[in-house]
Amino acid sequence: MLPRKSILNIKPYQPGKPIEEVKRELGLKDVIKMASNENPFGPSPRAVAAIKKYLADINRYPEGGCFYLRQALAKKLKVKPEQLVFGNGSDELIILALRAFVNEGDEVVVATPTFLIYEIASAVQGARIKKVPTRYFKYDLNAMRAAITKNTKLVFIANPDNPNSTYVTRYELEKFLKGLPGETLVFIDEAYFDYVEERDYPSGLDYISKNNVIVTRSFSKSYGLAGLRVGYAVSSPGIARYMESVREPFNVNSIAQVGALAALKDKKFLSKTKKMTQQGKRFFYSEFKKLGLRYVPSVTNFVLFEVGKDAGQMCRKLLKKGVIVRNMKAWGLDTFIRVTVGMEKENKRFIKELKKAGI
Ligand SMILES: Cc1ncc(COP(=O)(O)O)c(C=O)c1O
Repeated sequence: MLPRKSILNIKPYQPGKPIEEVKRELGLKDVIKMASNENPFGPSPRAVAAIKKYLADINRYPEGGCFYLRQALAKKLKVKPEQLVFGNGSDELIILALRAFVNEGDEVVVATPTFLIYEIASAVQGARIKKVPTRYFKYDLNAMRAAITKNTKLVFIANPDNPNSTYVTRYELEKFLKGLPGETLVFIDEAYFDYVEERDYPSGLDYISKNNVIVTRSFSKSYGLAGLRVGYAVSSPGIARYMESVREPFNVNSIAQVGALAALKDKKFLSKTKKMTQQGKRFFYSEFKKLGLRYVPSVTNFVLFEVGKDAGQMCRKLLKKGVIVRNMKAWGLDTFIRVTVGMEKENKRFIKELKKAGI
């Protein structure tokens, strides 16, 4: 049985082992996960309370249009409800945009390295992928602009980016958007939006009325709801309508909707998350400096740093000590590790184990 040609060379996603399994295998009592850019400060307590209250109703199908979440977000973002599309995580919105707009053989422009799902999902769709290298860990929008032809249907911009942890400035974005071919859609992925404090960081929402732009955001990071899987896209009503037409009717489950709605109102949790993340990054920077390690200054909740040798070996050593971090080999950064900011004691433990591992 042969599958579609476009997926012949795509390997299935390899999930990591559950933490309990890692503990059992390595005989460890306490394992910390600093590998997936999750929120270590827990879910929003308001989300947890709202979910508990809702549990008795899960015999019903979810609200297919995310009605209440849609109303609340439209008000918060000052957009019309019909400009929003909800996804099972913002990951799903990447797939919906490709499904709605990219035909087999159309070109998609991505950076390299960047969030891997852009390339994988584009390949599944049968797109021709043009990869444009980043420069000094930043998107090179001039080169990405030059890569666009009349056949380019979609361009992915992670702002800020994962794994680079850097951002595209307002000036750079506006220069890029100016005079783009009318058929080209720009997908601006703002999964880490809430963490960025830089003044020249643009909100993609400022460009949705005049350009073919889709902006996505996530409840997985700053709101601490990664396990629920909910994200949203904002665009013109016309673009949103096409994305709506290719999504499954109940793609966002009811617990996710209830949790996201409550988390949205939890300003206290969001500001704690931001403050603790900044503190954690400052701690990492000062420790990396003492150790003579190069790192990329980050506007996100994770830091990319260079270990100067095989990062895979270092990650394995750390794992044996119960610290899970991300080896960057799959992104072509063989000597780099990405570490997510954890709770204060986790950050300290990570640095302690890094030193012991002979950095
Ligand atoms: C740049 C970027 N976009 C999107 C996502 C996916 O987020 P979600 O959990 O909303 O699917 C991630 C997750 O790590 C990410 O790093």
